[in-house]
Amino acid sequence: MPELFKELEDYSKGGFFAMVDRKVADHLPEWVKASSHVFWLDHPESQKNLQVFGEACSFFLKMGIRRQSKLIAIGGGATTDLAGFVAASVLRGVSWVSIPTTMLAMVDGAIGGKVAINMPEGKNLVGAFHAPEQVLICDEFLTTLPEEEWLSGKGEVIKYGFLSQKIHQLIIDKADASIVAWECALHKKTVVERDFKETGERILLNLGHTLGHAFESSLKIPHGLSVILGMKTLFNLYELKAMEEELRAMLKALDVSEKILELSNYALDKKAFFHYLEQDKKRTSQEIRLILPSAIGDCRVHEVKFKDLLDRLRLHDNFKN
Ligand SMILES: NC(=O)c1ccc[n+]([C@@H]2O[C@H](COP(=O)([O-])OP(=O)(O)OC[C@H]3O[C@@H](n4cnc5c(N)ncnc54)[C@H](O)[C@@H]3O)[C@@H](O)[C@H]2O)c1
Repeated sequence: MPELFKELEDYSKGGFFAMVDRKVADHLPEWVKASSHVFWLDHPESQKNLQVFGEACSFFLKMGIRRQSKLIAIGGGATTDLAGFVAASVLRGVSWVSIPTTMLAMVDGAIGGKVAINMPEGKNLVGAFHAPEQVLICDEFLTTLPEEEWLSGKGEVIKYGFLSQKIHQLIIDKADASIVAWECALHKKTVVERDFKETGERILLNLGHTLGHAFESSLKIPHGLSVILGMKTLFNLYELKAMEEELRAMLKALDVSEKILELSNYALDKKAFFHYLEQDKKRTSQEIRLILPSAIGDCRVHEVKFKDLLDRLRLHDNFKN
């Protein structure tokens, strides 16, 4: 049983309110499982929507949540995103504690206070900036994480490997997963503390995400895997051969087969892919922001013409009609 629940037991005295991914129920103490104040999620990503958001707000209001209460989120990034947005909204905001249970959420999703739900128009389009009061990380949750979700977590870890020389070296040296994860979490925390509202350096954390989100929505594959494909395609399009080599080296060090990079292995719905990109662009401006690394630890934001990106994609073997 994770030690951290002893810490949380205090909260149960003042009223315990939690949103929990049912897949981690076996890790939880009896008092959490028995609590009537838990809003359980069975399929967090597909429940990260407006309807379930409304149901959760009603649930916590009926259960007597107050301004001084804390909402505890226990689950992967989809759970912490939804719970964080409920915490930002109910009674105009209550504080919340994030307990990530996937590798991806431990290194990224549960940290930084960007909370959101998906809309029919796209992912994460309605949300808020509402930082958790605490992020409690316990790697015991990872003992039940399926292989596919480990791979997804490694996708975000590799992203940090491009942003930080220190993390890159740890990956290449095959450092223990918990050490690498800790450094990634620390990197994000440091960046977020300097740029909470994402007006400057926090933008760099979106490396691989513009194309990644289009892959995620058109292929229905896990977030981190989409980020890997997003980075790989970006490096191809902008002829960053050295960066593609680095990507392969990090995949190898993390024991991930290079085969996952082959877009021809996926049933890519090109129409859905381009549709997603068009929608994404409408929400920004004529130019689209891409994060391009020129070396490990040297990533910069480039404003490129959307048409330029589309032209390059249409010349790419995997996107030709
Ligand atoms: N807010 C942010 O800054 C940020 C950053 C990155 C990603 N995200 C969001 O995070 C989500 C992706 O996060 P995720 O990969 O954690 O997804 P997730 O929460 O959907 O979890 C992935 C799967 O693992 C299961 N699971 C969770 N913990 C488990 C455990 N310990 N053992 C067994 N199964 C477990 C879940 O039920 C789910 O099926 C996306 O919605 C993405 O948009 C947010």
